[in-house]
Parts: sequence; C-alpha cells; structure tokens
Amino acid sequence: MSETAKLILEGKEYEFPVFTGSENEKAIDISKLRDQTGYVTLDTGYKNTGATTSKLTYLDGEEGILRHGGYSIEDLTNHASYMEVCYMLFNGELPNKEQLAAFETKISRHTLVHEDMKKIFDAYPTNSHPMGQLIAMVSSLSSFYPASLNPNRNDEAKRLTMFRMLAKMPTIVGMVYKKSIGHPIIYPNNNLDYVTNYLYMTFGNVTENFEVDPVIVEAMNKLLILHADHEQNCSTSTVRIVGSSQANLYAAISAGIAALWGPLHGGANQQVIEMLENIKADGGDTEKWINKAKDKNDPFRLMGFGHRVYKNFDPRALLIKDACDKVLNKLGINDPVLEIAKKLEETALKDPYFIERKLFPNVDFYSGIIYRAMGFPVEMFTPLFALGRLPGWIAQWKEMIDENQPIGRPRQIYTGYPLRDWKPIEKR
Ligand code: SDX
Repeated sequence: MSETAKLILEGKEYEFPVFTGSENEKAIDISKLRDQTGYVTLDTGYKNTGATTSKLTYLDGEEGILRHGGYSIEDLTNHASYMEVCYMLFNGELPNKEQLAAFETKISRHTLVHEDMKKIFDAYPTNSHPMGQLIAMVSSLSSFYPASLNPNRNDEAKRLTMFRMLAKMPTIVGMVYKKSIGHPIIYPNNNLDYVTNYLYMTFGNVTENFEVDPVIVEAMNKLLILHADHEQNCSTSTVRIVGSSQANLYAAISAGIAALWGPLHGGANQQVIEMLENIKADGGDTEKWINKAKDKNDPFRLMGFGHRVYKNFDPRALLIKDACDKVLNKLGINDPVLEIAKKLEETALKDPYFIERKLFPNVDFYSGIIYRAMGFPVEMFTPLFALGRLPGWIAQWKEMIDENQPIGRPRQIYTGYPLRDWKPIEKR
C-alpha cells in the first residue's frame, strides 16, 4: 500500500500520494492539489518545495553528504578529473578510457569562439565586472549557431549545443580575464587538457612560452569538481525555469550566470575575501566582526557562512579548507587572511548564535583564498564558480528537456487592492 498524506480543508478530507526518492527522501505530491481543493501552497523562497525529481546530485544537509551519480564528493575530488565528472553529469556514468578520450576530443573541437565575439568584448568598458561580461558573451553565443538552437530539434543538435557551451566557456572566461588586465587574448591550445588549457589562456601571454604549474592544475581540477553541481540551487533553478520555456541553452546558462552573481549565492566568494581584507585592515579583531554579524541592527553578515540546505557542515568547505593549506604551502604563500578565516570559523562554531542557526562555513568561505594564491583577482572569483558549475547547469537543463517537463509557472496569493473604480487624474 503506497503511503499517502491526508489534508482536511473546510471539513472535507483529501488524500495525496507521497513520493519516495532513491535515498528515502519523502515528498507530498501536490500536483492535483488545486484541481481537487482550489487551494495552492505558499512557500516563499521554496524552502520546503521540491521543484523536480533528479538523478544527478544528492544532498543530505543534516549529514553533510554530497554525491554526483552516487559517487561521494570526497571520492570525486580525490580521484576524478573534472572532465570525468563532466562526462558523468552529461551521461549518468563515469567514462571508460575510450569514452573519456572521445569526449575530450569532441570538446577540444569547439574551444574557439567566433572572431566577431571580440568586437562585442571591445565594446565593454575596461573595468566592467567580469560577471556582466560573461552574461552577455554566453548569451551572444546564440547569435552564432542559429541552426542548433532549438533544444527539441533533435538529439544531435542538443548534444552539439551542450558540447559547444562546455568547450567555449573556458575560452570566454579567459578572454574576460585578459580584457580586465589589458592583455592580448590567448587562444586555446588543444594539445592541453581542459583545465590546463583554461589556465594557459588565463596566465599565458603572447610574449613567451608558458608552462602551467601542475600544482595549480591539480588545485583547479579539485575546485571545479567541488563546484560542478548542487541540485536545485538558485542559479540551477534559474537555468531550469528559463529552459522550461524552450529558450535555447545559451540563454538559459546566461540567466544562470546572472543568478549566480548575487552576493547571497556565488557572488559570496568575492565578498568573503573583501570581508577578510576589511577585518585584516581593521586590526584582525574577529570577535568584533562576529558580534556585528549577530547584531540584527547591523547589515553585516559573515559571508561564506550559512546555507539553505547544509545544517551540519558543507563537505565542500572541508575539502577546500584542506586544499587551501596544501596549495599555499606548495606555492610557498603565507596569506594572513587564511589565519583570519580560520579564527573566524573557530570563534563562530563555538558561538550559540551560529550554533542555534546551524551556520557553518560553506563552499565560498575558503575558495577565494586559493583563487588568490593562484593569481586571480577577486573579480574573477565568481566567474570561476560559473566555470565550475557549468556542467551541472547543462546536465540539469538536459534532464529537464529530456523529461519534456512543462513550462515553470508558479502560482501566488494576491494581497493587493480589491476591484475599485477608475479615478481620472484630476480627481487623484
Ligand atoms: C552558495 O543553494 C546552494 O546550494 C548554493 C551553493 C551552491 O553550490 O549552489 O551552495 C552556493 O550560494 C553558498 C551560500 C553563499 N552565500 C553566503 O555565504 C552569504 C551569507 N549567507 C547567507 O546570507 C545565508 O546563510 C544564505 C543565503 C546562504 C542562506 O539563507 P537562508 O537559508 O534563507 O537563511 P536565512 O537568511 O533565513 O538565515 C537564517 C538565520 C537568520 O537569522 P534569524 O532571522 O533566524 O535570527 O540565520 C541568519 C539570518 O539572519 N544568518 C546569518 C548568516 N546566514 C544566515 N547571520 C549572520 N551571517 C550569516 N552568514
């Protein structure tokens, strides 16, 4: 007998099916609620609402579990290449050697962007934020491939668009960085793997040969995996809802990048470093800033702390903190803000305000320290988050399209004026 949920409304009893996921998560299926009762649910911020089922990523916020395709984030970060994770998000299984080689070869065929994109870049003010440029450049990809825009035209067109999007993002993010420092663009070198090629386009230059430091390649590989997907977060939900109208993938990804820019979401990694630098400039008094974060009358929040789902710890934060120490030691860098970050974490995790609200470091708390040690300016931190999250966005979009999901269109409860008579302007 399948489980059901009973609801009594105005003395009448209704029964709704309970849906159980493969990890025993439970949901009340309310797809017939309004038809049967005339009621809708109200859940601002969707804190209690499941928007879809998905086979891609599993989170357990209480236990601090994150898995992709059933593999733990710990195993993937410690053993997989980013390309293996991208392949698995696209196909549901880790690739064998032949499949991985074919996948990487296919991606390398599409790393160049149309030369006309440079004209769009040139129109941008030099000091405009890289995220604004990224939103525009990704959206402009739709101008160059009109034949393969319709997500439902056929499977080949859909996969070609997915490969183009994955292949061109590092080139575009590299172009954004080079523009921000006034250097000539470095074209992709397809003799290099995906991650090395991105770092080559970022830190290489036209005046000399450039070898990417393997320490940085290894760290970037881990960071991109740690950002690859995260179920129905704000930016992924944005990609899904834009894609649900059958807008093309480039438009949906561009919208996802826009959502990620917000300081409460991916923009937090830039805010964390700026916060740590402010605390350092203010003398490093972490107690003072912890108290500011707790003060309801103070708008300051401890950036990089707290999470909608993780209420125990963010497993990614633990893995990035561990990588932080290793990368900075290997690079021989002593960054004082790392000590400030550790002191903030130590103080906050003993403080009842943070304990009661289950606020722990999230993925953004330590990532910026590594990015800075690699040589990235803070404005590039959120574009790096977008680069990492890209395969997740694409895979979630594909899952939604493959399941032929309906256009996303939530309801609301109106709280404005009742009907009233028109008032000519002379009488207002
Ligand atoms: C990401 O969803 C995802 O998976 C996102 C992400 C991904 O991979 O896609 O994991 C990436 O976006 C990580 C989060 C990065 N953002 C930040 O670090 C910004 C700082 N954190 C927050 O603003 C906040 O914690 C959120 C936005 C992350 C979560 O917000 P919620 O779930 O809506 O929680 P809330 O704002 O309702 O806060 C609950 C309470 C409130 O206090 P009370 O009103 O109950 O007294 O906790 C307080 C908040 O004021 N609070 C904080 C705090 N975060 C929450 N107080 C101080 N500092 C903080 N950082």
